[in-house]
Amino acid sequence: MSAQSAMPTIRELKAYENQQVTLNGWVYNKRSSGKVRFLILRDGTGYLQCVAFVKDVPPEVFDLCDRVKLESSVSVTGTVRLDERAPGGVELSLSAVALHHMAEEYPIQKKDHETAFLMENRHLWLRSSRQVAILRTRSEIEQSFRDYFYDNGFTLIDSPILTPAACEGTTTLFETEYFGEKAYLSQSGQLYLEPACMALGKVYCFGPTFRAEKSKTRRHLTEFWMLEPEVAFAGLEEVMALAEDFLVYVVSRVLDRCKEELKIAERDTTALENVRKPFPRIQYKDAVAQLHTLGSDIAHGDDFGADDETILTKQYDRPLMVHRYPSAVKAFYMEPDPADPSLALCVDVLAPEGYGEIIGGSERIHDHDLLLRRIREHGLPEKAFQWYLDIRKYGTVRHGGFGIGLERTVAWICGLPHVRETIPYPRMIYQLYP
Ligand code: 4AD
Ligand code: MG
Repeated sequence: MSAQSAMPTIRELKAYENQQVTLNGWVYNKRSSGKVRFLILRDGTGYLQCVAFVKDVPPEVFDLCDRVKLESSVSVTGTVRLDERAPGGVELSLSAVALHHMAEEYPIQKKDHETAFLMENRHLWLRSSRQVAILRTRSEIEQSFRDYFYDNGFTLIDSPILTPAACEGTTTLFETEYFGEKAYLSQSGQLYLEPACMALGKVYCFGPTFRAEKSKTRRHLTEFWMLEPEVAFAGLEEVMALAEDFLVYVVSRVLDRCKEELKIAERDTTALENVRKPFPRIQYKDAVAQLHTLGSDIAHGDDFGADDETILTKQYDRPLMVHRYPSAVKAFYMEPDPADPSLALCVDVLAPEGYGEIIGGSERIHDHDLLLRRIREHGLPEKAFQWYLDIRKYGTVRHGGFGIGLERTVAWICGLPHVRETIPYPRMIYQLYP
């Protein structure tokens, strides 16, 4: 490529020292001082200081640097200079600026805005450096999710979004009309993965899932992305080992590839560097006892509240696996513990630093009659589950898996207090726009 035609991105600029390049982007910021004008260009890959000296550029370019509004779209041409002091280590000596569009007065300023205002303007807020860093990290996390399972011999099975029955309790179902019948938006792909693992051995799905969460919390979205593996001939032990190995992979890969982004998000990464095997494992009943010593009044048999998870995880420097919750607080499909059938062979993985549950998983009931009994006890529509029961009639085996919520994982890895910044367009009880 000739120097004249080079059109690199900001991230690639270091390789173009002393060459003339043209870059496309938006005016992120500008400054002036005497006979110099500075434009900070952003293009999604980074930020570039462009410098125009009055003596070096035609008067109309200098004038445009004065007039241009923030977030206007431009193409800048100039010579690349390496400069230790500049952000990203490079600077552009401007020779020309072509204006694509002069922006109107940009509503988002550097000052602090109310969250409600930012959420209303999510389509513009996405451009801020912090949001760009978070979304890039999300993309890396998402890719690492896929790569882990792809590289470990799992087959991707896309599960349906429109479903005839509930997977994770009937209180959070989104209902929709389906040609005169009722359908529900999927809460989890798990029930569809179980038959698939009997066909393919090790499978996973990854897609949007929906829950009509009616309370405002910092951990709940009504639409979130979940990756779920499911493995034939696997029990709770194998499920826990898989979750542990997977999380170690994801965190180390993000630490390796998102250093810049985590810095912009002001994430102190020392805690993430502790995410190594083995993760501590405790039974639910021991977790409750520990919570009592920490001042919680949780009743034995209750599910953990967000506060319980927060104080519990603050005691550990890496993810905590809590297993064998009472069956009564868990989903209908979980295998009972043979040592105490009132407990489920299940695990929740709680992220450290107060983040709480990011993974829920279990061994599944593989006996037909027990599963039928559970479906009845939970008042679920038997007819809608015939296909699911069928799996227990033809070569049934132990099997299990888990689900990991992408947004909660992003919140933890980026150190964000609320899941609303972890997804491009969050959906919550009072949030459907934009
Ligand atoms: O614990 P959950 O409900 O488990 C299941 O859905 C199982 N069917 C998964 C399986 O075994 N295949 O949800 C799994 C994870 C949670 O740990 C959490 O990270 C996330 O999904 N999650 C949510 N994330 C954001 N907003 C919500 N409302 C969420 N509900 C669950
Ligand atoms: Mg759960």
